[in-house]
Amino acid sequence: MSTPSSATAIAHPNIALIKYWGKRDVPLNLPAAGSISLTLAGMETRTTVRFDPTLTVDSVSLDGKDVTGKGAAKISTFLDRVRAKADITTRAHVESANDFPTAAGLASSASGFAALALAATRAAGLELDTPELSVLSRLGSGSAARSVIDGWAQMHPGQADDGDDAFATQIAGSDHWDLRCVVAVCARGPKEIGSTEAMNLTLDTSPYYAAWIEDVTRNLEPAREAILARDFDRLAQLAEASCLRMHACALAADPGILYWQPATMAIMRRVRALRSAGESVFFTIDAGPHVKVFCPADREAAVLAALGEEPSVERLLVSRPGGAARLI
Ligand code: DP6
Repeated sequence: MSTPSSATAIAHPNIALIKYWGKRDVPLNLPAAGSISLTLAGMETRTTVRFDPTLTVDSVSLDGKDVTGKGAAKISTFLDRVRAKADITTRAHVESANDFPTAAGLASSASGFAALALAATRAAGLELDTPELSVLSRLGSGSAARSVIDGWAQMHPGQADDGDDAFATQIAGSDHWDLRCVVAVCARGPKEIGSTEAMNLTLDTSPYYAAWIEDVTRNLEPAREAILARDFDRLAQLAEASCLRMHACALAADPGILYWQPATMAIMRRVRALRSAGESVFFTIDAGPHVKVFCPADREAAVLAALGEEPSVERLLVSRPGGAARLI
């Protein structure tokens, strides 16, 4: 393939139902266990990469602002991998924009690195297949490996030292199950501790870490089966347990990692109350304060109305199963 030099890609965030929280190799973002997620439509990262022979360093902007320091270094290291694959040394302009809050637990690193992996490889003249794109995205952020997949994805931890067998595959497409994910935005601004740092602190200091990893491994197949069978109640039980156990494991780190705000707890309680009243609904929470509430599509209005009564919530966004990372 000839070098097009410029490409733009879109990728969506994904939300894990069986969580990734712990690595078997930190520099390569190799997960200690598998995970299961749903790619989310209605929120996206759009990234353009343009290789430019006149540049001496990569230039990176996010949401219109120049990125410098550690953030820029991380992108350059990622681009170095792409350059090595394509056998080029040219530096690049990277322009990325999210249409949802960045670095607040809405998985911007997942959509960000999936979009960057696709745009950068294409701009460098490479055409990767989906597993290769997933492996490359993972090197930017572990959860990004799942955002290259349409719909329901399963991340495989792999066994190889180089991580070439640690990528995500599809369980079912975005048209498999008409669910809604209502995102309750529970705080403004960036979170106190990023997922990478928090995950490593958990691994190093939480006395519950080994039990957590065992539990994840045990729950992957039941969750996959629940998704394939569209068994909402079973998935609800597995996903809430995975979320609460991940947070329990992180809370037990030293110092303890606490992502929840009062609004987070208020939404969890409302979801439990709705379920007690017969509604099909469950919650999950990543490394941040926001709560993602799942329900069947035909219950969206009822769930939105109930969550909208919670005064401490900043706003509610509605998402549905989303597609794979793609070029535009
Ligand atoms: C809580 O993928 O952000 O969202 O691999 O260090 O970049 P790094 O971590 P990241 O962690 C995501 C953690 C999570 C759970 C999940 O998405 O599975």
